[in-house]
Amino acid sequence: MSVDERRKALKEKLNLSDEDLAVLDTGIPLDITNRMVENVIGNFAIPFGIGTNFIINGKEYMIPMAVEETSVIAAASNAAKLACAGGGFTAESDEPVMIGQIQLFGVEYEKTRKILTDKIEEMKGILNRKDSTLVSLGGGFKDIEVRPIDNYTVIHLLVDVRDAMGANVVNTMCECISPYIEQWTGGKTGLRIISNLADYRMVRASATWSKTDLEKSFDGKVKGEEVVNAIISAWKFAADDIYRCATHNKGIMNGIDAIMIATGNDWRAVEAGAHTYSRITEKPLTWYEKDKEGNLIGHIEIPMVVGIVGGSVGINPFAQFSLKVLGVKSSRELGEVAACVGLANNFAALRALSVEGLQRGHMKLHATNIAQMAGAVGEEIDKIASQMVEEKKISVARAKELLNEIKK
Ligand code: MEV
Repeated sequence: MSVDERRKALKEKLNLSDEDLAVLDTGIPLDITNRMVENVIGNFAIPFGIGTNFIINGKEYMIPMAVEETSVIAAASNAAKLACAGGGFTAESDEPVMIGQIQLFGVEYEKTRKILTDKIEEMKGILNRKDSTLVSLGGGFKDIEVRPIDNYTVIHLLVDVRDAMGANVVNTMCECISPYIEQWTGGKTGLRIISNLADYRMVRASATWSKTDLEKSFDGKVKGEEVVNAIISAWKFAADDIYRCATHNKGIMNGIDAIMIATGNDWRAVEAGAHTYSRITEKPLTWYEKDKEGNLIGHIEIPMVVGIVGGSVGINPFAQFSLKVLGVKSSRELGEVAACVGLANNFAALRALSVEGLQRGHMKLHATNIAQMAGAVGEEIDKIASQMVEEKKISVARAKELLNEIKK
C-alpha cells in the first residue's frame, strides 16, 4: 500500500476522523513542545508505522510503532502473523504497583522495621489523603518494605499507580512521608525517588508458532522441526552468555521501545527495568520450549513501567493518536500489548539469525534505499533493488547503471 492507502485503511478500520489523522502531518504544536522540555528549537521526527496481525487475548490490535531501524515493524508484523494460527498471543499482568525508595541513615534496621510496620495505617492516611482521585480509582499507597543495606536502611513505599506510569505520584509520596519517617525513627533521610525496577508490575506473555507454519514460512526449504530447534538453540546462547543476552534483549526492546515512543511513554524507564530484571534473574527476558507436538512456544516476562494518562502521554497529540489506534483501556493492557510486541520481535530476530541470515531482509531494504538515491522511482526501485541483492553488489553507482539500462 502507499502511505495514503495505509492511512485510508486505518481510518476505515478504526473509524478515525480526518481530525484524528491530522497529527500525522502537523506533528506536535511548538507551544506544547516548548512546555515539555527546555531550550526548544523544534520537533525531532522519527518514522511512524503500524505493526499488524497482532491478536492478543483474542483481540486484534493495530500497533503504533515509532522507530528509525529498518525491519523492526515488518519483523514484528510477520512474527505476529505466524502466531495467528496458534491463536495469537496470550498475556497477563500484575496490578500496577510501583516502588518508591527512601534511604534512611542513622537507624537500626530491626527497630526501624518494627516502628514503620506499626505506622502503616497512619502512613496510608497521610499519603492517600494527598491523591483522592487515585484512591477513588482503586490505587494509592498500599504497603511498605524495609531493607537493610550497608550502613543504612531503605524503605520501599508500594504504590498502586493505576493507569499512570507513576513517577510523579510515587516521588511526591516519598517526599511527603520522609519528614514523618525521620520523626518516627530519629533517622535522617537521603534519596527519595521511584525505582525503575518495577518487579511488582510484571507482564507475562506467550505465543505458539506451529512447526508446520514455520516450515511453510521457509517455502518448505527447511523442516519445521529444524526451525524450532534452531530458535531454541539461538535462545540458549543468550541464556548461556551475557554478551549474547544483551543483544537478545536489545532485539526485544526494538519492538517495546517503538510502542513506548509512539505512546509518549518513558522508554528509558522500561529499558532500565527490563535490563536490571534480566540481570537479577540471570536470564534473557524471553525463553522458548517445545509443546508435545514439537511446536515452538515463546514466553516473555518483563517489568512494565507504562502509563496511558499523565506525564507527556496526556499532552502529546501523537501519543493520544497512538492510544486511540491501540484502543487499550488501561496501563496494564498497554504493558501486555508491548510485551507481546517484544516477544514477536525477539522470535523474528532468532528465526532470521538462526535460519535465514538476518542480512538478507536488511539488504533488500538497504538496496531499496540505494535505488531511490540513484533516482529510481515506482517499479524501478524494486527491480533495481532485487537485482543488486541477487548480485550481492549494492551501491549507488551500480543502481545508476541498472537505472540507465531500464531507461534504455
Ligand atoms: C538488531 O536491532 C537486533 C538483533 O541484533 C537482535 C538479536 O540479535 O537477537 C537482530
